Amino acid sequence: MSKTSRRNFIKKNILSGLFLTSAIPLLRAENALKKESSIPQLKENSNNYNNIDWSTVRQQFLFPKEKHYLNTGSLGPSPKIVINTICEAMEKLETSVSHGRHQIAETHKKAAQFLNVTTDEIAFTRNATEGINIAARSLRLKKGDEIIITTHEHVGGASPWLALQKDIGVIVKLIDLDFNGENNLQIIKNNITQKTKVIAFSHITCTTGMKLPAKAIVDVCRSKNIYSCIDGAQSLGMFPIDLLDIDPDFYASSGHKWLFGPKGTGVLFINKKIIKHIDPVYVGAYSDSKFDLNSLTMEYRTSAQREEYGTRNTPITLGLGSAFDFINTIGIDNIAKRSRELVTHFRSQVDKIPEIEILTPKSERFSASMITIRIKGKDNLKLNPILNKEKNLRMRGIYENNINGIRISFAVFNSFEEVDMLANALKEIVKA
Ligand SMILES: Cc1ncc(COP(=O)(O)O)c(C=O)c1O
Repeated sequence: MSKTSRRNFIKKNILSGLFLTSAIPLLRAENALKKESSIPQLKENSNNYNNIDWSTVRQQFLFPKEKHYLNTGSLGPSPKIVINTICEAMEKLETSVSHGRHQIAETHKKAAQFLNVTTDEIAFTRNATEGINIAARSLRLKKGDEIIITTHEHVGGASPWLALQKDIGVIVKLIDLDFNGENNLQIIKNNITQKTKVIAFSHITCTTGMKLPAKAIVDVCRSKNIYSCIDGAQSLGMFPIDLLDIDPDFYASSGHKWLFGPKGTGVLFINKKIIKHIDPVYVGAYSDSKFDLNSLTMEYRTSAQREEYGTRNTPITLGLGSAFDFINTIGIDNIAKRSRELVTHFRSQVDKIPEIEILTPKSERFSASMITIRIKGKDNLKLNPILNKEKNLRMRGIYENNINGIRISFAVFNSFEEVDMLANALKEIVKA
């Protein structure tokens, strides 16, 4: 199939719900998605930013239009194509009673292309946390080795390193970041010692949506023989990412946030430069290049996929593949641009309100699609659920690092009207 006809095929399937035919009633995607005809068409050339009808994009998601979902940073809803793919694959595999493992290769390819790396450097996990655990446990660290992490890490990004501290006595060095973004590279550099073996950081922090200079940090790591582990839970699917260019040792992400993939999926990149120097964490069928029980022989594959031991959930992995298709159909550049416009519009509404602090850097170099705000003198963690209950504005309270803020995620299905609703709700709170 040529590239163009393939693109058209994907587009047609993504946008017309073609996968809905001939399903067993209980599994039938149609049950969840109602009538096929209710799935609208995006315009041709929709990957030209000016031609994109964002309301049509919104219609690809099942949650009701009254729900103003501004919490993709916690959990991204899946579009219809992802749900259809899972349902159809499950039906087919159950009908033929097969695990369908070989089909996963297609999704490896999609993930690798999306990140500009080789398929051998991609392994699928259950979530970002699992990916970071694999990174932490696969390095041959020992007592006294230092690991730098930041005070802005998510529990899933920090725990694997803290566990190593408990288990083998590595030293976790916790560093604070500059909320403006400008000084973070220097702060990290200042904390490196002869004993530093790993720098683990979020590409986009879960706290304030701040972007860290990933490439510059990785460059420092390479120059000093330090492993780099990027927590990409908040960046994959948010904006274009070229891992060949950034060149980290590990990049771990969720499939279920900004990619809008199935829950229980994750993507782990392991750089081919290091694979021979690290050990797999879990092993089993598919981890080996050679296995003979009688002679007690086991040799590992030199592919990240050696971490995909045993029987896998093929339907959700194929659903993850459709999530990449969905993103590619709109275009990751367009997605990033749309979020930026929503963020800019939001900022223009709240910038002038003295009671509201914006904790996320304004510069595009240090921010992307999430913003964290704090209403001065209020318990923002209590306000957040009230905004959800009374205004249907769903966001995430930020308790981490004692920030006492509200994090807003601006995704493809959000509209300028929703931004206005939020801004007006905040103005009301401030006036009250
Ligand atoms: C920066 C960061 N890392 C890790 C995680 C954990 O992700 P998962 O639940 O996919 O393991 C999150 C979730 O919000 C996150 O924001």
